[in-house]
Amino acid sequence: MTNSAGPTSSKPVALVTGASAGIGEAIARKLGATGYRLVLVARRKERLERLAADLAPVTDARILAIDVTAPDAAERAVALAKEGFGRLDCLVNNAGSGKWAPVHLTDDATLGEVIDTSLKAPFRFCRAAIPVMGRGCSIINIGSVFGIMGGLDGGAYCAVKAGLIGLTQALAVQYGASGIRSNLVAPGVIKTDMTRDYWDSPGFQRVNQEMTPFDRDCTAEDVANAVIFLASEQGSIINGQTIALDGGWSTTKYLSMAALTRGLSRGGKD
Ligand SMILES: NC(=O)c1ccc[n+]([C@@H]2O[C@H](COP(=O)([O-])OP(=O)(O)OC[C@H]3O[C@@H](n4cnc5c(N)ncnc54)[C@H](OP(=O)(O)O)[C@@H]3O)[C@@H](O)[C@H]2O)c1
Repeated sequence: MTNSAGPTSSKPVALVTGASAGIGEAIARKLGATGYRLVLVARRKERLERLAADLAPVTDARILAIDVTAPDAAERAVALAKEGFGRLDCLVNNAGSGKWAPVHLTDDATLGEVIDTSLKAPFRFCRAAIPVMGRGCSIINIGSVFGIMGGLDGGAYCAVKAGLIGLTQALAVQYGASGIRSNLVAPGVIKTDMTRDYWDSPGFQRVNQEMTPFDRDCTAEDVANAVIFLASEQGSIINGQTIALDGGWSTTKYLSMAALTRGLSRGGKD
């Protein structure tokens, strides 16, 4: 069955940035399956077209192939929701730069890219979306556990993700009384194009597992589930929150028994 909801349909509308891959794609697929019409934003047009085609049997999706750091990106994306669908119910600010370097090795170009993509662009998307939103609408920013805790070598990334928490709280206090909620989801490390290089190193996986008091890793599907919940009626009292999706990594000082005893079994010299 092809979706045939027109601009005046009562079906809700979500705008997802960074929808061409990874976490954003998983969020878009789940929102589509849940009944949202979609505005999909990213630079790679062919990937957005493929996603929209995949989703066509279940929902209507419009695409905008644009760099979110372009000054007019947010206005154009929100206009697409308004003109194409007549409404915007949910904004998911997911597009982000994964540039990761220690502070003393971060040049201005890298600092600018991380700030522009992961903080300035979400700010602009919120600014453009809010006038179109009303009671029952919500904004969900995709942060990171490294916005809650320091991440070794993650200077600009950590600073920007912490800034996104500040933006989320400011939005919550400013627009909550109008019925517009804002929350942030902070995933732990998920295997995507952004993290593939170090994810595939056995050392990283071992440390991640030994410091996480849970028996599996976070997935893009977990993030999509959290977004669906936060956007839904079931999540409708949650406002201004940061929700970590990390199996308890950021809220415990956990070390697995294997990690605790590794050195001891070899005379404590490890
Ligand atoms: N993976 C993790 O472990 C992890 C953990 C915590 C938080 N996060 C956050 O989750 C979000 C998504 O990350 P991911 O792991 O899914 O990364 P990913 O697989 O590399 O995907 C990044 C997405 O963002 C888009 N994007 C990046 N820069 C853009 C720009 N300037 N303009 C428009 N779109 C842009 C990319 O699309 P195009 O290339 O087509 O433009 C792509 O769709 C990021 O905010 C990241 O910080 C990731």
